[in-house]
Amino acid sequence: MIYLDNAATSFPKPPGVIEAVTDALAAPASPGRSGHAPALNASRTIHRARKALARLFGLTDNTRLIFAPNVTWSLNMALNGLGLKAGDHVLSSALEHNSTARPLARFKKDQGVDWEIVPPGPDGRTRPEDFKNRLRPETRLVVLCHASNVTGTLAPAKAIKEAISATPLLLDAAQTAGALPMDDYGQWADLVAFTGHKALLGPTGTGGLWIREGLDLRPLAVGGSGSRSESLVHPDFLPDALEPGTANTHGLAGLAAGVEFLLAVGVDKVRAHEMELTAYFLENIAKIPELSIIGPGPGEPDRVATVSVVVKGWSSSDLAAALEKGYGIMIRSGLHCAPLAHQFLGTYPGGAARFSFGYFNVLKDAEIAATALKELAAKPVS
Ligand SMILES: Cc1ncc(COP(=O)(O)O)c(C=O)c1O
Repeated sequence: MIYLDNAATSFPKPPGVIEAVTDALAAPASPGRSGHAPALNASRTIHRARKALARLFGLTDNTRLIFAPNVTWSLNMALNGLGLKAGDHVLSSALEHNSTARPLARFKKDQGVDWEIVPPGPDGRTRPEDFKNRLRPETRLVVLCHASNVTGTLAPAKAIKEAISATPLLLDAAQTAGALPMDDYGQWADLVAFTGHKALLGPTGTGGLWIREGLDLRPLAVGGSGSRSESLVHPDFLPDALEPGTANTHGLAGLAAGVEFLLAVGVDKVRAHEMELTAYFLENIAKIPELSIIGPGPGEPDRVATVSVVVKGWSSSDLAAALEKGYGIMIRSGLHCAPLAHQFLGTYPGGAARFSFGYFNVLKDAEIAATALKELAAKPVS
């Protein structure tokens, strides 16, 4: 198998992740609840995960890093927690995933929130000035997909934050956390939502949200916290305020191991490797006349290791099936839960075939995938 679907979920997981999950499963896990040794150990495991992520994002206060089942929950936690109401104005990029687009569409329909999509510039990139020019007194939030899960295009998050100044920025870092050095984000970002099972190399069922000091979110859910148990009012201190219910200790043990692996290797090194494979792949597929690259092509900067293509005579799903059947290559076809992005890119409703590289891919994988595309492009099915 050649696994090129790391934008969906990373595979394989690094050494130590499987062991960390199985070790956690082999012990009672009741973090923050019981006082016996295994329960204290479970709390330590969660602390380890929080500490590793705090280092990755350059955070000084890791109690403001909240765990959630995935980035979809984290984004919903942020959007709902801000208490958006009728008349509020929210800006987003055009490359949003359904994880932000669907909640925003619901806020618009049910609560009269004015959601405005900022179209990309002529080069397909999101421009800081386009956000700045649309700010109004009632603008409550800017939502930004940090890197498109369709094209791999990286949004200039820091420049956008500078342009919108005091308006909070909610970053969907699903495709960047772990793939891009982000160790200064604690100094300027407002809300960073991440998922554990992609470039952070952890298991599914893990993710979270970092909230800068001064931003308060109303909890989406309340309940057991293991703290202030005498009161019917859920605690208001972080992280307990936003982490109701027993944590996913098993998953977070794996996430801690994944992030610790990244920190030991260095995110710079991971990124350099992934960019080398991406550059090689782009250069080779750009020579295929029947193929169009959707998004940044060879030599274009500011991207992650995700490349989508459309091939003449092939639907994206037929192409994915042929790659799997003929070459053992796993990719993702269709709309990638990002219909808005595909509409802006002109690839709706057919979608595209998406190749996404991870740290454990090698140059040979990119070479085989490029050759497979060349061979398939020469024999269209329709
Ligand atoms: C940009 C983006 N946002 C959100 C998500 C949702 O991730 P999850 O399913 O882990 O919540 C994904 C993953 O598919 C993504 O690529």
